[in-house]
Formats: sequence, structure tokens, C-alpha cells
Amino acid sequence: MEVYILPNEEEIGSAIADRIEKLFSANPEANLGVATGSSPLPTYRELIKRVAEGKISFSKSHFFMLDEYVGIAEDHPERYHNVITTEIASQVDVDPANVHGPEGNAPDLAAAVKEYDELIREKGGVDLQILGIGSDGHIAFNEPGGSLVSRTHVDVLTNQTRVDNARFFDGDLDKVPTHCVTQGLGTIMDARELCLVATGEGKAEAVAQMVEGGISALWPATIMQMHPNAHVFIDEAAASKLKLIDYYREIQAARA
Ligand code: GLP
Repeated sequence: MEVYILPNEEEIGSAIADRIEKLFSANPEANLGVATGSSPLPTYRELIKRVAEGKISFSKSHFFMLDEYVGIAEDHPERYHNVITTEIASQVDVDPANVHGPEGNAPDLAAAVKEYDELIREKGGVDLQILGIGSDGHIAFNEPGGSLVSRTHVDVLTNQTRVDNARFFDGDLDKVPTHCVTQGLGTIMDARELCLVATGEGKAEAVAQMVEGGISALWPATIMQMHPNAHVFIDEAAASKLKLIDYYREIQAARA
């Protein structure tokens, strides 16, 4: 896992956009894995700018979302498909028909999650997956206690995640859905490159576990230690509980 400690979220967004620009220059048909949450927003702003400047094009790309709430109204602004459309897809040149996500309102959810994994495979897989992390160490909606090799599946949200996400539902916990569909950890690990963003002290424990803890279902993001091409972009606050922080800084300085 490569750790990058950067001064602020703008620099993090810019560093991830650099990797994406490099990838798409080499392969304009690359597929991008997009995440919801506030962490990827500076990256999206930077990508939107670079597409407008003609530095990147997503016109031949497929976007794959990580997760979706179950039972949320199609036109709800917090439906993840709508969030991704608003925050990035509608502002870049990706074909809206090529923006895919697991379907949280399918009549047969068990069939829909299987079809989603097949679609990702059929389109050639995800080349670069942007990720955030929950304060309990979840990635996508893979909550603690689940399988480390799961495929896309229906899951139950923890109370902690619902409390964290209540801010998107007028601060009302009762309005936060209880179930979700999410790419599994095995699905996410199939992406050729992972770029995870975490900022703020609230993520410091999850970051320390992810980078330095034992691989465990208790902290799902620890599975990323098994990925050969995983990059973690964090600010000073999110890095504050890392034991080997000085070593990561040395490596980072040597890379520059
Ligand atoms: C939700 C999403 C995750 C995201 C997490 C953190 O639970 N399903 O994909 O990583 O929120 O969000 P934020 O970046 O806003 O802290």
C-alpha cells in the first residue's frame, strides 16, 4: 500500500486526478470506479476541470458505482445514482448510458447483484477505483463482520453508518435506509488500481487499521493490504494515528 500524506483535500484531489489523467492518456477506453461520499468531491472537481480543458476524456469509458441504497425513491437526491450524476457524470463527457450502478430497487435483488458483477466483467473490469472509507472502516457499504471475498450483494447498514449518513437525510436517522446493495470486497479487489481518500480526525483510527492493522473482517478496508496496486491519500489529521508515519513521509519524499 502506498501512503501519500498531503496538506489538504485540494492537493489530494489533484494527485488522484493526475493518476487518472495518466491512465486515460495511455488507455482512453479505461473504466473508472466512482464512489459517493464527500471524500471524492475534490477529485471530481479536478476531473471536471481537466475534461473542460481537454486534458482527459471519458467519452469511451464506463463508470461503475460502488453501492446504492435499497428502497430509496428514484428521484431522491441522495440516491447514489443521482449523486454521481450530479457530482461528476453530468459534468464530464461520459455517455450517461455508460454510468452503471448496482440496482437498489430491482424486483429481484439477488439476480440484479449477480448481473452487476457480470456487467463489470463484460466491460473489461474497473481500471481505477476511487474509494472513501467509513469511520468504522467500511469501504463501499461492506460493513464490519462481512466476508473479505464477497461479490456484489445486499447488505444491512450498521447503526454507525446510518448515523454518519443522517446528515444527508435532514439529520433524521429514521429517513436513512436500512439496507443497501454494494460491490463486495472481492469485486473491489478486482479493480486494477485502488485510490482511497480519507481526511479529518474522524477517519484516523480507520486509516491506522487499514494501513497497519491485522487483516480482519472487523476493519473491512484492511483487505486492501492484499492489493498489489493500492494508494491511500490522506491529510495530516487522518494520518495522525499511523505508527510508521515518519517512514511513510520518507518514502513519499524519495518518490518526489
Ligand atoms: C458512505 C459510502 C462510502 C463512503 C463513506 C464515507 O458510507 N457508501 O462509499 O466511503 O460513506 O463517506 P465520506 O467520504 O463522506 O466520509
